[in-house]
Amino acid sequence: MSKHCTIYEPTEENLDICAQLLRDGDVVSVPTETVYGLAGNPLREESARRIFNVKGRPLLDPLIVHFPEVAAAKQHIELNAAVEILAEKCWPGPLTMVVNKKKSIPDIVTAGLPSVAIRVPRHPVFRSLLRRLDFPLAAPSANPFGYVSPTLASHVASTLGKRIPAILDGGPCELGIESTIIDLRDPDRPAIFRHGPISQCALSEALGGIDIDDHTAGKADNKAQAAPGLLTKHYSPTANVHLFEHNTCPTRLSEITHHTNEAVVFNRKPAFGPTSSHTFWLSEDGKAETVAHNLFELIQRLDQLNFKELYIELAENKGIGKAINDRLHRAAAK
Ligand code: TXA
Ligand code: MG
Repeated sequence: MSKHCTIYEPTEENLDICAQLLRDGDVVSVPTETVYGLAGNPLREESARRIFNVKGRPLLDPLIVHFPEVAAAKQHIELNAAVEILAEKCWPGPLTMVVNKKKSIPDIVTAGLPSVAIRVPRHPVFRSLLRRLDFPLAAPSANPFGYVSPTLASHVASTLGKRIPAILDGGPCELGIESTIIDLRDPDRPAIFRHGPISQCALSEALGGIDIDDHTAGKADNKAQAAPGLLTKHYSPTANVHLFEHNTCPTRLSEITHHTNEAVVFNRKPAFGPTSSHTFWLSEDGKAETVAHNLFELIQRLDQLNFKELYIELAENKGIGKAINDRLHRAAAK
């Protein structure tokens, strides 16, 4: 149990080894284009249970089920027109759709809900693994419950390494934040459950301009229930997180940058003003995609460097910036 996991380069032979572990009911950490996942067979109850146990995740927080292509999902879900349109436009890719499930998906996967969250990922390593199997893969992010999501194999190794047999190393995750989740149980009333790399606008446009409600907990004026398990406090590093507005500096900047325990994180490299070994930035040019790509990696690095207080600049609140700000607000929640 305390033996450390093996990190596998994604060779054909190693993919076969990981596929066999999964057939045997074990769990394997896999790279995706969003964040690393902790994969297991959702059709076997004991494998799904292992995922929850390894993460320390409450059983009322349902899992996403990943398929190699939409055709493979059809036997497990109720299809509708909106699902077909978005599958055509966004899959394989960072979009998760909540749809009504069929009986073949065990209750433990969906926390007893009649719906299931599904995704066809585009990371080539994850896809090769899925194609080797005759079952889909349930995979939440491969972090201990409540902690920052992993974007490198080494993040998984240092947190869950003693609890899992294998990590497939697919390199740094391209996008760096989790998939957008859209509720399509009723195709005429779609809703966003989690902001992510594919924006609410892009989804609305893809669905012919239909209004999409924002049911994320981050939306102040919305009382609707967000995705179960999307807790206000989430994605939290060990350090305390404090946020400041986009394109501003934290008040006390010069004090902070001289305090050994405190670090300041800007969206872009500061053009002027005091910088020190306590000043960090998420991109050279402020591009939101780059900020998202680097966000979780920098936060985990600052934790490892033992900073205790992180002052982090919010992103401009549009497009993928909404997804970044959602993660930051949860990381800062007490
Ligand atoms: O990018 C991603 O989506 C990554 C990679 C590994 O695919 N996965 C991921 O999974 O972020 P996880 O478990 O960390 O977050 C999935 C969220 C859950 O917190 C839950 O709130 C929501 O999806 N969810 C799952 N099933 C649901 C359902 N039937 N109804 C509503 N929300 C659901
Ligand atoms: Mg997660």
